[in-house]
Amino acid sequence: MISRDTVEEIRNRIDIVDVISDFVSLKKSGQNYKALSPFANEKTPSFFVVPAKGIFKDFSSGKGGDAFTFVMEHEKLSYAETIKYLAKKYGVEIKEDRVTDENRAEQSEREGLYILMNFAKDYYKNLLTNSEAGRGVGLSYFRERGFNDRTLEKFELGYALEGWENFSKDAVTKGYNKELLDKAGLVVKKDDGSTYDRFRGRVIFPVHNMSGKVIAFGARMLGKDKNQPKYINSPETDIYHKSDVLYGLYQAKNAIRQHDTCYLVEGYTDVISLHQADVENVVSSSGTALTEGQIKLIRRFTENVTVLFDGDTAGIKAALRGIDLILKGGLNVRVVLFPDNEDPDSYSRKVGTTAFQKFLKENTKDFVSFKAGLFAAEAAGDPIRKADSIKEIVTSISLIPDPVKRSVYIQETSNLLKISESVLLTELNKILVTERRKLARENLREPSEVPAEMIEEKSVSSQIDMLAIIQNQEKETVRLLLNYADQHVNENRLPTYFVNELEDVEFTHPLYREIYFEFKAAELREKEPINSDFFIQHGTTEIKRIVTDLTVSRYQVSKHWGDKYNIFIPAESDKINELAYGIVLHLKLRVIQKHLDDNLKLLKDVKDIEEENRLLEFQKQLKSGEVEISNFLGIVIAR
Ligand code: UTP
Ligand code: MN
Repeated sequence: MISRDTVEEIRNRIDIVDVISDFVSLKKSGQNYKALSPFANEKTPSFFVVPAKGIFKDFSSGKGGDAFTFVMEHEKLSYAETIKYLAKKYGVEIKEDRVTDENRAEQSEREGLYILMNFAKDYYKNLLTNSEAGRGVGLSYFRERGFNDRTLEKFELGYALEGWENFSKDAVTKGYNKELLDKAGLVVKKDDGSTYDRFRGRVIFPVHNMSGKVIAFGARMLGKDKNQPKYINSPETDIYHKSDVLYGLYQAKNAIRQHDTCYLVEGYTDVISLHQADVENVVSSSGTALTEGQIKLIRRFTENVTVLFDGDTAGIKAALRGIDLILKGGLNVRVVLFPDNEDPDSYSRKVGTTAFQKFLKENTKDFVSFKAGLFAAEAAGDPIRKADSIKEIVTSISLIPDPVKRSVYIQETSNLLKISESVLLTELNKILVTERRKLARENLREPSEVPAEMIEEKSVSSQIDMLAIIQNQEKETVRLLLNYADQHVNENRLPTYFVNELEDVEFTHPLYREIYFEFKAAELREKEPINSDFFIQHGTTEIKRIVTDLTVSRYQVSKHWGDKYNIFIPAESDKINELAYGIVLHLKLRVIQKHLDDNLKLLKDVKDIEEENRLLEFQKQLKSGEVEISNFLGIVIAR
């Protein structure tokens, strides 16, 4: 067993921030550090490390303790394994009992699997350089691919001999039982119960977990035999869950943290070639479609993912799928597409380190530009295709959990595609509402859990600005009425025109409302038309003051100009048509916007699908009215 002194020495040497940083991307927060919980799926950090006390606390899962506890919990290691792991990390020497058949049987099965996989890794690695076939076939294959010694060592690459039982026999003589070989997926069991080696005559890529333990293998064939799969991989085992593993993460994690970006590629060889091109922040989903678990893994180290894919159709399809899943996971996603028939591996070897890094830098696009570019060629001159491509992009945006990020992308899309934000937002809200409806159906038991904040809302500050703008428009209406009540717009007198057009408009400012109301009353009762004199005679002190303010013209254009120099400055009364028309449109826009707000509120709570569709249709009409009017007025609607 391990001595107390050893444990004490480890305790003295470890730094909890350093230990945890190998698994979690910590952000400094005052004296302490925080991060997203590695034990729970969460969007706001509730995992805290207090270096002064050498402890961590995870409020999501309730877990907490010292560095030892963390490693045990996180890596699912026994106490002894944790000691060994930390001893290795900090270069502390420990006295270990020799592994005998007896105490091996006592070890937990998981521990046994780790030990066996480590043995297998050493076995294959050794054969690569220390056997004739390994050197002649395996090593020369890796050399052909340009892998140097450092790479072979870093990824612990190996070679499996031809023949059915080379590995099994060796493992059994070293004391590993056949049952365990089967549980580790290193052999294949036949119907009659006999077994043979799973990996034969192939080069070996060990797959490591985050603490560097080997948990699986990928084995690539050497020739071009069409009847065999290119890769044979370990099956799922007690220590290998494919969907929660990323190839290369162990070798990449520090670089990912350092660059705050993770490159995502398709295969083993892509990861390795990028390392050789000095790009070390790279992982691979290893041929399987990216999973949520894998995205969660990346999220512990960075929020930024750049997917690198082949430029062929299959590559693009894979990229598109990946993008959506990554967005859904709350990460930022960028894309690099390689020239047709090139993957990151082939391309980096073809152009060399410097040119490759330059290529990455210059060809990284955010997903909106990527998607827009993809559809641009197809959509050119075809409005329906263009509409489809907009929908495509907005659908991706709708997957982003953070509403602020969504609105940033909407803005960007608007700029890029030259489409107004309001159109994009309508589309976005439509998708969000549908999505919400789907969620609601799925969570029938907890309908209140449906995230209501999914629908975009105006910020409070923009609402305040809005009121000031609105009251200015009311003031302008009243000013025109007071000054030009006797003028005509089209066939009508100005007050008649306003009263007809502004039927739905309610004034918000009490004094302007009162003045407007008097004009309206006079119109409706078809009495004597009124003008500013009416208010000067009958109004309250306040009304009189406002009316005086609004009727004293600020600019008295000197008549002499016209007489003397033949220069005529147009008086306001000459463009009354234009002014009245403008103010009417502004006020109508306001009515539409109020309807939009009300309708959106209704949409949030609607339970009935038909009602929802009706509201959505109304929303669409209102939006197009809004867009039409604002286009006319030259206003950019920022919502
Ligand atoms: P690729 O066919 O792109 O392989 O598959 P590769 O890694 O680039 O290998 P080279 O360059 O041809 O030598 C991408 C990944 O898909 C998985 C592997 O993880 C591979 O790295 N794969 C592929 C399999 O698991 N089985 C297969 O038969 C093929
Ligand atoms: Mn390849």
